[in-house]
Amino acid sequence: MRENNSNFFNMKKEISKYAKRVAIEAGELLKKKFGKVKRIDFKGEINIVTEADCISQEFIKKLIKEKYPEHSIISEEDLEIKSSAPFRWIIDPLDGTTNFTHGLPIFAISIAVEYEKEMFTGFVYNPITEELFWAERGKGAFLGKKRIKVSQTGSLNRSLLATGFPYDIREDSNNNLNHFSKFALKAQAIRRLGSAALDLCFVACGRFDGFWELKLFPWDVAAGILIVEEAGGKVTDFKGLPTDIYSKEIVASNGKIHNEMIEILNKKI
Ligand code: IPD
Ligand code: CA
Ligand code: CA
Repeated sequence: MRENNSNFFNMKKEISKYAKRVAIEAGELLKKKFGKVKRIDFKGEINIVTEADCISQEFIKKLIKEKYPEHSIISEEDLEIKSSAPFRWIIDPLDGTTNFTHGLPIFAISIAVEYEKEMFTGFVYNPITEELFWAERGKGAFLGKKRIKVSQTGSLNRSLLATGFPYDIREDSNNNLNHFSKFALKAQAIRRLGSAALDLCFVACGRFDGFWELKLFPWDVAAGILIVEEAGGKVTDFKGLPTDIYSKEIVASNGKIHNEMIEILNKKI
């Protein structure tokens, strides 16, 4: 199958349209469960999973398998052995589980699809605010129907940043607290929203000027990275080098403050 073949182009278009439908329908499901969590299981001391994560995941997988049985799927709560079909869906069925469990309406479904390891479409949907962030490679990034762009802020001193902390914060000293203290003294302010997928989308639409985090997983960032890049932003690792969804470090910014962020990340306290 060739990239320049118009059938192939249409196929990607159709997949993207379907991914949007899946994200919105799964969002409706999560909305119904919001505020009614009954079962919480602990994957670690502070790392939880609820029945909503699993219901959302099963629903999403079912819809994908119905329409594209030959595609492979990576999803956070999935223990199935993964196949390696060229089309691969990367899913976080509920990004922001801790918020969801506490009734805090900052969470999202993240769905991205790649062909031969290149992400070509991504959706992040918060069903409470009904904000749908999405991008298609080469076509730009959008919030609903509106095109989005990263901010124009030119200095860290005037920047609103976002970050998060890994679930092993108590066990491993590589837990981001050092970087947090450095940025706290240099940025205008820092927020910790609890949904990496939304953090990235907020960089893409200019609400945040920059975001960094460590130890994230492909499902946290697959859609968000594409959305930031298509909105004109920059995404690298902590050294400023190109990154991918498997990297354990991510810095996403409007591009203008990127070097300042990299400097801080590499500065010893
Ligand atoms: C988490 C959120 C959070 C980030 C964590 C992630 P989950 O995802 O994205 O913002 O700090 O590292 O694991 O567990 O809610 O899907
Ligand atoms: Ca997540
Ligand atoms: Ca999740």
